[in-house]
Amino acid sequence: MQNFTYHTPTKLIFGKDVIEKLPETLKPLGHKILLTYGGGSIKKNGLYDRVRDLLRDFEVYELSGIAPNPKYNPSVLDGVRICKEQGIEAILAVGGGSVLDCSKAIAAGALYDGEPWDLISYRVKARAALPIVDIMTLSATGSEYDPGGVISRTETNDKIGYMDDLLYPVASFLDPTYTFTVSKKQTAAGTADAINHVMEQYFCADANLLSDGMCEAAVKSLMHNVRIALENPNDYDARAQIMVTCALACNGILSLGNSGSGWPCHGIEHALSGYYDITHGEGLAIITPRWMKHILNDRTLPRFVKFGVGVFGIDETLPAYEIAEKTIDATYRFFESIGIPMHLREVGIDDARLSEMAHHIATLEGLDTAYAPLTEADILSILEASL
Ligand code: NZQ
Ligand code: ZN
Repeated sequence: MQNFTYHTPTKLIFGKDVIEKLPETLKPLGHKILLTYGGGSIKKNGLYDRVRDLLRDFEVYELSGIAPNPKYNPSVLDGVRICKEQGIEAILAVGGGSVLDCSKAIAAGALYDGEPWDLISYRVKARAALPIVDIMTLSATGSEYDPGGVISRTETNDKIGYMDDLLYPVASFLDPTYTFTVSKKQTAAGTADAINHVMEQYFCADANLLSDGMCEAAVKSLMHNVRIALENPNDYDARAQIMVTCALACNGILSLGNSGSGWPCHGIEHALSGYYDITHGEGLAIITPRWMKHILNDRTLPRFVKFGVGVFGIDETLPAYEIAEKTIDATYRFFESIGIPMHLREVGIDDARLSEMAHHIATLEGLDTAYAPLTEADILSILEASL
């Protein structure tokens, strides 16, 4: 078991109608609030009106229109400008991971004198950030319980994961009923994202029984409950279990003591969304089984066997390579069964820029030091197999 320091300062406030506690949660943080949200889903499902009512005693400014794969320009820059001009004291993010990620970058940029990209690109370390509270409306990223945000810069096709302990939300409100309106496409993609978060932690050189057990349970819970939620979007218990599992899937608690993996599927997927603006979870679902196939060898075999037996219940008396092949196939079939397009061409990506993306990933993502190291040629081969 590896050494670790674990500390998550975020308060999770879970359950039906918990946002009634919003005023008392925000009050100690300040009076001037920047309310951030996306393209309008919170207006359609009534959450916006409820939030505005709960904020009636605060001075509220708004940043709307934050897009999926949130953009540095205009969203982060606009948010930073509003915070500086109005003296914003805290940010309330209402939406999915994109709204929250963008808000995290704004929170750091608001208290920095220079260009916010200096912070996102790690050229400069932030000294402070505005406090963030969020109301999650989509279960997927785990941004509600982690210190990271992912920001895209369109002109350079960069999609960068920006992490800093200053960016943990102060509190995250998780009311499963606000996820009832999430589309089938985003429900499936969000689950695929969280499953991959777990797998990125599971496929490593040094794991332990506790982390393996938690990871296997998390994947099983997600696979079981997403089917129910797709069938009946208003199933509270399924949405609730997905929501809590997603929150825990990305903050390290499932892999305490594990060695790192390098998060290879994320390294590859971030380029797909950076170049083509596709849905993150769909990109991951497409890449994951091809990556599994590519890295299967005598050294990685035991992890495939453990995963296949623990998650899919594959007969452990079968030859190890047969279990591994069945595990890869079951992973593919699962994503396919929840309606995810399983080929890059189906999400609008052809072979035109595969080499360019492979070079971009190999240069920026450091996957040559991953648990199963990937060279530029390896990355290209995974991308080609995903077409
Ligand atoms: O913009 P609105 O109108 O709100 O619509 C959104 C958006 O179109 C919609 N939506 C959200 N909640 C809804 C809803 N529609 C109906 N009812 C609701 N209750 O869903 C669409 C997608 O939203 P988005 O926030 O983009 O999805 P998600 O939460 O999957 O976030 C994806 C982003 O997070 C990053 C991804 O790379 C991507 O940019 N990630 C962030 C991570 C983190 N911070 O730790 C880790 C992840 O690995 C991931 O990279
Ligand atoms: Zn992800």
